[in-house]
Amino acid sequence: MAELKLENIQKKFGSTQVIKNLNLTIRDGEFFSFVGPSGCGKSTILNLIAGLEAETGGAIYFDGEPISQLSPKDRDVALVFQSYALYPHMRVFDNIAFPLKMRKVPQAEIAAEVERVSGLLGINALLQRKPAALSGGERQRVALARAIIRRPRVFLMDEPLSNLDAQLRVQMRAELKRLHQEIKITTVYVTHDQQEAMSLSDRIAVLYEGEVQQYGLPEEVYAKPGNLFVAGFIGSPPMRFIPATVVKNNPLEVRVNGVSFSPKAKNTPTTDKVVLGIRPEDIAVSTQRGAYEAKVILAEYSGAGYWVDLDWQGIKLKGFAALDAGINQTGKAFFNILIDKCHFFDAQTGQRL
Ligand SMILES: Nc1ncnc2c1ncn2[C@@H]1O[C@H](COP(=O)(O)OP(=O)(O)OP(=O)(O)O)[C@@H](O)[C@H]1O
Ligand SMILES: [Mg+2]
Repeated sequence: MAELKLENIQKKFGSTQVIKNLNLTIRDGEFFSFVGPSGCGKSTILNLIAGLEAETGGAIYFDGEPISQLSPKDRDVALVFQSYALYPHMRVFDNIAFPLKMRKVPQAEIAAEVERVSGLLGINALLQRKPAALSGGERQRVALARAIIRRPRVFLMDEPLSNLDAQLRVQMRAELKRLHQEIKITTVYVTHDQQEAMSLSDRIAVLYEGEVQQYGLPEEVYAKPGNLFVAGFIGSPPMRFIPATVVKNNPLEVRVNGVSFSPKAKNTPTTDKVVLGIRPEDIAVSTQRGAYEAKVILAEYSGAGYWVDLDWQGIKLKGFAALDAGINQTGKAFFNILIDKCHFFDAQTGQRL
């Protein structure tokens, strides 16, 4: 078990700065995710923690002890990659047992540990098979079992579910969460899938171009995205952005399409341009009632209802219509915008107001 502190971490490859001044403390036993688009530096952070890359500046601490001088094997971390390389010639049992055999743990103890860990992951029945005779999800579980059996201080997981099909991914996601609740080992998880990060994690950090844009509870980040990048990245379908003009400050009043909004803002905009952000699930669309009228451009059936693309006097919005809201592809529709559900950002700086 370990608390993991990243202090002023920087990483350059040649002259390219890939990680810029990362400061974070990941708590003992926490499931913490870094989420961000391809190339933002997620794997680099894991590699720095694992010791596979050396930081250009800053320091990493496990329980207050600096680990920068320790080799990867002395850091006692277990890495699970996207491509979980199992040994193809070994049975599942021997694949899982491998880390203990390397440590010369007695046979009887190995057998008991393999049994215990396989039980946790529900793979007892597969122990005599070779990896070729397993499905993708089963292989993934074997790879996790092999990582867990060592009881590392820290788990590092780099997109471990990305090779699985959508359904299996969601299933494995739930199993990972359950597993973490059972073994409570500090876990640093990396994914580009914001839904995966939110559903698994105690806290998340949204990473973009090597910088943490915001971190906190998934609920906090979702409810109060700190800037335009986070607002657009977290949530599905993504938040829609509408340019708005400041009518006056203190208290703030902005205008969109002739409609005035008076948001509770903590900050004063730097110019008279702001951005109103609104999540599709916060715009209820119907053919009967609503404060504003719009044209339906497209309605996409989603099971629980329809995602509806709207044209509101030239402004493109997306909303949600219940199954009984009578939405069809071409007609007109009504919707409301609730001020409490709106997010306002400074158009110049991108920061939340
Ligand atoms: N060894 C290296 N030498 C030079 N540049 C590198 C090296 N490793 C990574 N980079 C660059 O650093 C940046 C971050 O890479 P990283 O692998 O951490 O991204 P990532 O967030 O994990 O992306 P993905 O989601 O695609 O896996 C990228 O621009 C990448 O090209
Ligand atoms: Mg990566």
